[in-house]
Amino acid sequence: MDKFIINGKKRLTGEVTINGAKNAAVAILPATLLVNGVCTIENLPNISDINIYCDILKTLGVKITQIGPNTIEVDTTKISCIDAPLDMTSKFRASYYLIGALLGRCHRAVVGMPGGCQLGARPIDQHAKAFEALGATVEIGQGKIQATTDKLIGNSIYFDIVSVGATINAILAAVLAEGVTVIENAAKEPHIVDVANFLITMGADIHGAGTDIIKITGVKELHGGSYSVVPDQIEAGTFMLAAVATRGDITIKNCITKHLDPLSAKIEEMGAHVEEINGDTLRVWCDERPKKVNIKTLPYPGFPTDLQSQMGVVLATAEGTSMITESIWESRFQYTAELNKMGAQINAQGKVAIFEGVEELYGAPVAASDLRAGAALIIAGIAANGITEISHLEYIDRGYEKIDEKFRALGADIKRITE
Ligand code: EPU
Repeated sequence: MDKFIINGKKRLTGEVTINGAKNAAVAILPATLLVNGVCTIENLPNISDINIYCDILKTLGVKITQIGPNTIEVDTTKISCIDAPLDMTSKFRASYYLIGALLGRCHRAVVGMPGGCQLGARPIDQHAKAFEALGATVEIGQGKIQATTDKLIGNSIYFDIVSVGATINAILAAVLAEGVTVIENAAKEPHIVDVANFLITMGADIHGAGTDIIKITGVKELHGGSYSVVPDQIEAGTFMLAAVATRGDITIKNCITKHLDPLSAKIEEMGAHVEEINGDTLRVWCDERPKKVNIKTLPYPGFPTDLQSQMGVVLATAEGTSMITESIWESRFQYTAELNKMGAQINAQGKVAIFEGVEELYGAPVAASDLRAGAALIIAGIAANGITEISHLEYIDRGYEKIDEKFRALGADIKRITE
């Protein structure tokens, strides 16, 4: 079991370059199954979720060739319409995109019940609703999801709730369906636009991605091509909050500054500074103790739930009492118990957490409970006085490429040890 050992109280300064977005990449990879040809995917993050996805695609007969550190070639010309391996697909959440993609390509999909970070109940009823609207039969049970159809026919889909995964899955299933599909109450996250842009590049007819109504006109076939994954909004936000938490000064390169507006607004409300250097570079710095703010997580363009725990670290040492309301996930405050071991004073009850800002955190042994909680604990360890030991790095490895190297380059004293 690997651990991070962090010798804290370091002010982070310098430049960091952001990788491609995990949550776009884990949808674009299965989307290649809809293509009859060869796709080159650039700016692919080198993280464990992507490695597992490539392994799953290989079991379906997809040929994958690494042609650069962050570039692969995916040949989906000949695939086998067989069940996806249950043990592999149930390891992570984004395996549910195989259902939309395989339904589109093979008219049949069998996938293990998706696993992933423990954030509370993670139903997939809206995904099933979309597949059924397009003419598929969906059965969920015995640890797997099975969807079959003779043919997919475009239809209206009105989602009861805003869901990133269900919106992308509906797009995947509709791209090769006969006729027109209209998705209403769609999610608007940047990675939805990115998946749509990938499919459009390969010949799909999709309008409105990034708004709450998406119209897809089915096409007969998608062709191969090249695509570069959008920069990771959440990785960029993680480094922005690391600058504030350590009272540092970080220039964040290769990000889309517009995607970070909900976070930039909050950082400025706390009294720290964000300067847009150009459309893809931001400088974030903090000279004094940030002031309290209240946060409510919401679907894009609201404050992202995936930056909630990193923001929690900042609020743990902000001046005054702050409140975070988590409105997306049932259980995303597990990290607060770990921060309390480091001297924070956080009272989390259900979907609300109250942060009584303390002067400083001190190092302690802590455990990551999910991907973003892990990132938050790294930031806390770098800011805290003393030594912090973080276990369960497997969560962090799922979504951040070389996170320790990147923090070291900014002045953190962090090392990875294998016990
Ligand atoms: N929901 C349902 N029914 C459904 C689908 C979702 O009730 O059929 C509920 C969920 O339980 C949740 C809410 O709707 O309360 C939103 O869930 P959503 O479907 O939007 O989440 P997701 O697609 O499973 C993606 C990201 C998450 C991110 C959320 C919200 C991927 C692979 N995962 O999950 O990312 O928190 O959107 O933005 O894209 C992370 O990266 O750390 C992470 C957890």
